Amino acid sequence: MKKFPKGFYWGAATASYQVEGGINNCDWAKAATEGRVPICGQACDHYHRYEQDFDIAKSLGHNAHRFSIEWARIEPKEGEFNEEAIEHYRQVLQALHERGLTPFITLWHFTLPLWFSESGGFERKDSPEIFARYCAYVVSKLNNLCEHFSTINEPNVYATHGYLYGAWPPFKRVSIFGKSIGKEDGTSERTSAIAKFSSLFSYFKVTKQLAVAHNFAYRAIKKENPSAVVSVVKHVHYFYANKNPLNQMLAIIATYFQTYQFMNRVVKQCDEIGLNFYRSTAFGLKETFTLTDMGWKIAPQHIYGAIKILARYHKPIFIAEAGLADQLDTRRVEYIKRQVKATYRAIQDGADVRGHMYWSLLDNYEWALGFEKRFGLVEINYDTLERTIRPSAYVYKQICETNAVVE
Ligand code: BGC
Repeated sequence: MKKFPKGFYWGAATASYQVEGGINNCDWAKAATEGRVPICGQACDHYHRYEQDFDIAKSLGHNAHRFSIEWARIEPKEGEFNEEAIEHYRQVLQALHERGLTPFITLWHFTLPLWFSESGGFERKDSPEIFARYCAYVVSKLNNLCEHFSTINEPNVYATHGYLYGAWPPFKRVSIFGKSIGKEDGTSERTSAIAKFSSLFSYFKVTKQLAVAHNFAYRAIKKENPSAVVSVVKHVHYFYANKNPLNQMLAIIATYFQTYQFMNRVVKQCDEIGLNFYRSTAFGLKETFTLTDMGWKIAPQHIYGAIKILARYHKPIFIAEAGLADQLDTRRVEYIKRQVKATYRAIQDGADVRGHMYWSLLDNYEWALGFEKRFGLVEINYDTLERTIRPSAYVYKQICETNAVVE
């Protein structure tokens, strides 16, 4: 039997805005009122139904769970923290512990409090200090209930969609010689995105500020709790190539700009690294793949390469997200099995992978695409909010419970 290391974390992930419902004071909620992104509304009402959802996670053999804290709930006005909101998350953590699920908290997963986004967001000079203050506050309050804290989810994805493509708030889009950046591939709305050359400077500035913000937050968290295990969650796009040296060089350059550039700035301030894996691109190879409902190619085995990219930093890694949109649940079983097998292989080859969180526990709000794409192990009926466990969730359960590859 291909067993994972003892104590391996198995679970699923969610993010506050995508599942909780009832968040009205962040940049995405405002953009929705302006018709620029779909309305999120009550989402899965996870804010009130988390106990039921964690019962399901437990029944599915999970022993860990990744979720995020909504910054706009915690700090609804600049410098003012909401005790009730933090109390809610304390209860969420208690509920996880009662069910034997180890929590992995993400402090910021894409949505920003309105006061922060409207005053410049991560273009603000003092944004690293502001972010670090928020992180320190949360950790000081949740300290005894959680050990694993990720500061930022997917810094590059945030900066790219918000400042290069203009698909997400703050809808800044780069235009060079009148030509806008970002494919019109139907994966995002660009309603009234403002395309300007100067957005390029904003993009670089934000990417840099996010790295500084992580580093500041790391130090602030450690001050509150020296034994907190702090990470950044990095989305790794795996680039590979045929034997042609030029194509190989292209894959190396793409990997540098997609992953290493940011990681090199923050890795000293990481106790572990979260890896999100969804996509891969080949240079000089003509291959055909079946696709997910997002139109992304199904190549879960490429998580091996993504893990290897991060493994060079010699830090523990946990898979913070990996999964697919598959409404009919016809491709999910194979996907998960192959992905888990490739993760196992990476461990055999020396990578220090400690956990695997499938994305996502529940169907949820897929950002600019709304609720149509179904990533969940658990299906949500958005009219009744009824939860239905998908058949593939039981195969993942077998993996979690046996702590082993299932062929
Ligand atoms: C994000 C999630 C998102 C998922 C699927 C990741 O980039 O962290 O919020 O739902 O990908 O697109």
